[in-house]
Amino acid sequence: MSQLHIIDHPMIQHKLSIMRDIRTGAKDFRQLLTEISLLMGYEVTRDLPLEPVEIETPMCKTTARVISGKKLAIVPILRAGLGMVDGLLTLLPVAKVGHIGLYRDETTHLPVSYYCKMPSDICHRLVIVTDPMLATGGSSSDALTMLKKNYGCTQLRLMCLVAAPEGVKKLQKDHPDVDIYTAALDEELNSDAYILPGLGDAGDRIFGTK
Ligand code: PRP
Ligand code: URA
Repeated sequence: MSQLHIIDHPMIQHKLSIMRDIRTGAKDFRQLLTEISLLMGYEVTRDLPLEPVEIETPMCKTTARVISGKKLAIVPILRAGLGMVDGLLTLLPVAKVGHIGLYRDETTHLPVSYYCKMPSDICHRLVIVTDPMLATGGSSSDALTMLKKNYGCTQLRLMCLVAAPEGVKKLQKDHPDVDIYTAALDEELNSDAYILPGLGDAGDRIFGTK
């Protein structure tokens, strides 16, 4: 069964509350999303394996520990997932980045795929899929299915910002092998499949398109 990790660190909660506020403009919204993504990345990578390495400090020789050659990839779901990439890359500067383009049809709320470009060796990498909003779960579930079926990925994690119970349920049913990391589990979806209380349309708030 996939684990739901709710990262309730006070700094993340504080920044998320400012993001939710309708008065927060695109510049601050983007900056806060970048900062939260870096902080969440710390938890998403908490269990990466370490290996010993012999080094010499200015004082003596010692055995230190480094990440054991684990290769990572970050895969944002366009558009809003892009807002989480820079923060993660600050933490993981050598990670490769793939892109999946999906938008939700306004009437059916079902995801429509329009773009996909992955690093050639993505099947050997631990993949962190990013999308700030997990609403019905349709977009994230389709993105994970695509990465498994079309690219052979076997190690996947989903990093979002705000999740609805409906989305978590769908993800855990469709992808029991994929852990979900979120800063908040909100109350419900409205009749347009938007998260309540949520933060509105993440893509529009990041890019100022409304
Ligand atoms: C939003 C969001 C997710 C999706 C979540 O994208 O960024 O990708 O909706 O909804 P779901 O869980 O019900 O699938 P949107 O379709 O608005 O596209 P955009 O990021 O290009 O604005
Ligand atoms: N997509 C968003 O950007 N926000 C929601 O609340 C739901 C889907």
